[in-house]
Amino acid sequence: MIKRIQEWLSRKDRQEPVEISPDNIPRHVAIIMDGNGRWAKRRGMPRVVGHQNGMKAVKRATIAANDLGVEFLTLYAFSTENWTRPKDEVDFLMRLPVEFLAIELDELIEKNVQVRVMGNTEALPSHTRKAMEEAVARTLSNTGLILNFALNYGGRKEIEDCMRALGKDIQAGILSPEEITSELIDNRLSSSGLPDPDLLIRTSGEMRLSNFMLWQIAYSEFWFTDAYWPEFDKTHLMQAVAEYQRRTRRYGGLK
Ligand code: FPP
Repeated sequence: MIKRIQEWLSRKDRQEPVEISPDNIPRHVAIIMDGNGRWAKRRGMPRVVGHQNGMKAVKRATIAANDLGVEFLTLYAFSTENWTRPKDEVDFLMRLPVEFLAIELDELIEKNVQVRVMGNTEALPSHTRKAMEEAVARTLSNTGLILNFALNYGGRKEIEDCMRALGKDIQAGILSPEEITSELIDNRLSSSGLPDPDLLIRTSGEMRLSNFMLWQIAYSEFWFTDAYWPEFDKTHLMQAVAEYQRRTRRYGGLK
């Protein structure tokens, strides 16, 4: 009985593709990709099989976002807290970007996708860092979808680093406290150059931010789905966009 309810839960947001208007597509979609482990567990498989299938969902989400005309897609691939997971799992997660880019980079280039990365990349294993750096360098002049991986990323760490850098500039006499504005902070975060996310998606039924883009999502619209990340496909993205299009964004004002 419990199993049947669980199956229904994971199916219930799989409706027919929804109608969306091409005129109000969120420019920046950010996704907390959650539920890889539970997806695998439900199938009696090791957690890493969930991550492997999560990688396939990264491809589907990227193509879907590109097809819909999303300009920026940020994916939370590894948080500053994920290092506390067992070493084998961390090692596996660190190999995934390498594998993903080895398989997909040529097609991403063909589709004019620009790859970016935000987070503390210095602390990544060298094979992960090199694969990301190569992808960033090879796609630098692409003008299509910006696919931004949050890797070894934490919102609080990002704000802490920014405050330290601003403090140093003040100490050095090249910045005055009065010059600190929201815009200046935007430019000093690792998401610099990207607009704030319009739409934040989290999969797997969890409803928390988990230290993701704390500064940038001040006015993002949130959409949650019970689907586990390895199940995510274009229909889910369209459902999220359709819901986004039903919202009235007021930014604290009145409409
Ligand atoms: C959270 O699910 C997911 C992660 C910590 C890793 C996300 C990584 C991927 C989806 C693959 C990334 C691929 C590329 C190309 C960068 P979880 O493992 O915490 O799931 P659980 O909550 O069910 O245990």
